[in-house]
Amino acid sequence: VPRPRDGGEWAGYFAAQSGRRPRTLLRQALDRFGAADDGARLAIDLGSGAGADTLELLRRGWRVLAIDREPAAIEHLVQHTPDRYRRRLRARVVDFTTADLPPAELIHCGWSLPHCPAEDFPPVWSRLRSALRADGRVVGQLLGNRDDWAAGPLSTAVDTRQLLDLLAGLVIEACKEVEFDGDSFDGPKHWHFFEVIARQPGCRWVAGCQG
Ligand SMILES: C[S@@+](CC[C@H](N)C(=O)[O-])C[C@H]1O[C@@H](n2cnc3c(N)ncnc32)[C@H](O)[C@@H]1O
Repeated sequence: VPRPRDGGEWAGYFAAQSGRRPRTLLRQALDRFGAADDGARLAIDLGSGAGADTLELLRRGWRVLAIDREPAAIEHLVQHTPDRYRRRLRARVVDFTTADLPPAELIHCGWSLPHCPAEDFPPVWSRLRSALRADGRVVGQLLGNRDDWAAGPLSTAVDTRQLLDLLAGLVIEACKEVEFDGDSFDGPKHWHFFEVIARQPGCRWVAGCQG
């Protein structure tokens, strides 16, 4: 993962990520859904990058809205999407700090929210929460406050208390805190992050609920 920075240099990262296996956390979240009717469910891949996870969602029968502000990411994704999946893919070059998010059963934030400038994060999270349908899930990584990249206005990082506040009202299905010294795309660093799967409670027993 590259360091959060203004207008970052992503080309090398996208090339390195091309064709990689889908992220384990995403696969664990997908396994929690029952079998999907073809194209019945919508997933938003927020900060989709080169699209390895978008392709996994398409492979599993989801409709996908892939959002990334880097044209090279979306071009790469579209070029590598097999024709048979295309009608279920909407890919947009857009900044997620301003993008409208439609109601979705899944919102995947694979290492993208750490790159959200701290001052933009509260409205982004609030729009993400509003877009989650009943029984929908948010899945992804959030940077921890002890990560080397946590300081500075170009990233968003949380401590445990802040994370729990963000997840209040959701059913936390998985929440793993990871901390170690290791490598990154930009060299050695101290890592601290949370991997989260959280579900919007269902409302099928509530009169008038539109789900
Ligand atoms: C570390 S990459 C992760 C890509 C992919 N989700 C993955 O897990 O490999 C972060 C991605 O978020 C995108 N991104 C960062 N800030 C963004 C923003 N404000 N709006 C849209 N995309 C953004 C970057 O362009 C990049 O593709």
